[in-house]
Parts: sequence; structure tokens; C-alpha cells
Amino acid sequence: MLIKLHKINKQYGQGSAARRVLRDVDLAIAEGDFAAIVGTSGSGKSSLLNVIGGLDRDFTGEAEVVGQSLRGLSDRALSMLRNRSIGFIFQQFNLLEHLSCGENVALPAVFSKWDKAKVKRRVDDVLERVGLADRRDHLAGRLSGGQKQRVAIARALFHSPTLLLCDEPTGNLDTRTGRAVIELFQQLNDEGITLLIVTHEARVSDAARRVLRIEDGSLSEDPAPQVGSGGSDA
Ligand SMILES: Nc1ncnc2c1ncn2[C@@H]1O[C@H](COP(=O)(O)OP(=O)(O)OP(=O)(O)O)[C@@H](O)[C@H]1O
Ligand SMILES: [Mg+2]
Repeated sequence: MLIKLHKINKQYGQGSAARRVLRDVDLAIAEGDFAAIVGTSGSGKSSLLNVIGGLDRDFTGEAEVVGQSLRGLSDRALSMLRNRSIGFIFQQFNLLEHLSCGENVALPAVFSKWDKAKVKRRVDDVLERVGLADRRDHLAGRLSGGQKQRVAIARALFHSPTLLLCDEPTGNLDTRTGRAVIELFQQLNDEGITLLIVTHEARVSDAARRVLRIEDGSLSEDPAPQVGSGGSDA
């Protein structure tokens, strides 16, 4: 299993101000899976993703991600895991707008000892992968939303992650641009990358193989669609 969660509990605040946001969450995600997490605003989706991604260590329970138990990891080992094995994609793209696309994509290389030529080759490769090879030297701030998100995806792919964690990746995109990003996710999944995507949008969860529902911090899973049941699978 690429992700294994057992009885994850999380609360914000202490004492009478405490608010429980994850309740006994169990989850197993196999390598190559494509899972969507859906739920209403405030149900705990981002909180769960932050635990899985090692961005939030303030939880109880057992979490194993890409073969490593998050509990036992040093800060340094956790940073390595985040930088090397996990790609993050957010609704707001989180690009540095005054830098070029290529410079944004190369940011993960800050922590590696690669020489310039190797970094440049990798930047070109991943920009090519998302269809933006010709935009390497353009300012990120001058791109459209869909292009910004593809640059963010290229950056997430820099170190060939096994797992992509996405929080509302199409939330700021119009229908057509969002569809292109979903198609890109499907291709990446076909190539073996495991995807866990938080979404409000049916078009995203329809593309996923598994749909996990979170309600007030409790996770459940929709039954797998029956093959040949005549449901829409376009
Ligand atoms: N840093 C924080 N401190 C205190 N409470 C928080 C914090 N972050 C989130 N919460 C609360 O925890 C609950 C779950 O938040 P979370 O961000 O996980 O929800 P979400 O499902 O991602 O919502 P949305 O769809 O709006 O992004 C909410 O009630 C929120 O107000
Ligand atoms: Mg959220």
C-alpha cells in the first residue's frame, strides 16, 4: 500500500476550544490508484491531505506513506519524503509569479545537488510533459489559470513522485481548462502515478477509480462502480 492510515484523529485547539476534524480515519491506497476525496466545505478534506502529505504532524493514529511511517520520521527525513516522493498541487497554483515558468518548475532542485545542465534538461522534460515547452522563459504571473496549473503540475513532477496530492486542483479553472487538467491527471495515472485528489467537482470524481466521502471528519467509501452496469463511464 502506498498510503495506509489507521485510526487517524486530529483536532484543532485545546480544551473547551478543541474541535475534532478527523475521526478514526482508516484508509488504504494502493500504488497506481486514482482516488477522489469529496465532502462539504469544512468536512476535513484539506486537514486529511495535510496529514498524508506530512505537512501536519499534529495527529494521533498511524500513518504510513510511500513505505515510511510518518510518526517516526525526523524533520529532515520528512522533508526528503515530501520533496522526493510526493507532489503537491493546490487550487491557488502557488507559483512565484515574478519568476519564469522554468524557474518555478526548478524550485524543487534547490534541495538537490544537480548541476545546471541537468536541472535545465529536467525542466524542459516536465514542461514538455504538460504541453508548455514553449513557455519556459515566460513570467508565471502572465499565464492563464490553466497554464499556471500545468506549470504547478510540472513542478510537482520534477522529482518523479510516486504520489500526487491535489487539493481542489480545478477549483479555479473554467470547464474547458479544467477538463484539460483532468485529462492530464488521467494520463499521469495511466503512467503509474498514484493520485489522491480533493474535489467538489463531479467531473473530477467521475474520472477517479475510487470515491471517498468525508463527513464531519469521518471517512467512508462509495461502492466501486459495477463493470458493465450500464452506468455512464464516458
Ligand atoms: N488551522 C486551523 N485552526 C483551527 N481550525 C481549523 C484550522 N484549519 C481548519 N480548521 C477547521 O477544521 C475544519 C476542517 O477544515 P478543512 O480545511 O480540513 O476543511 P475542508 O473540507 O478542506 O473545507 P473546504 O472545502 O472549505 O476547503 C473546519 O471546521 C475548519 O474551520
Ligand atoms: Mg480545503
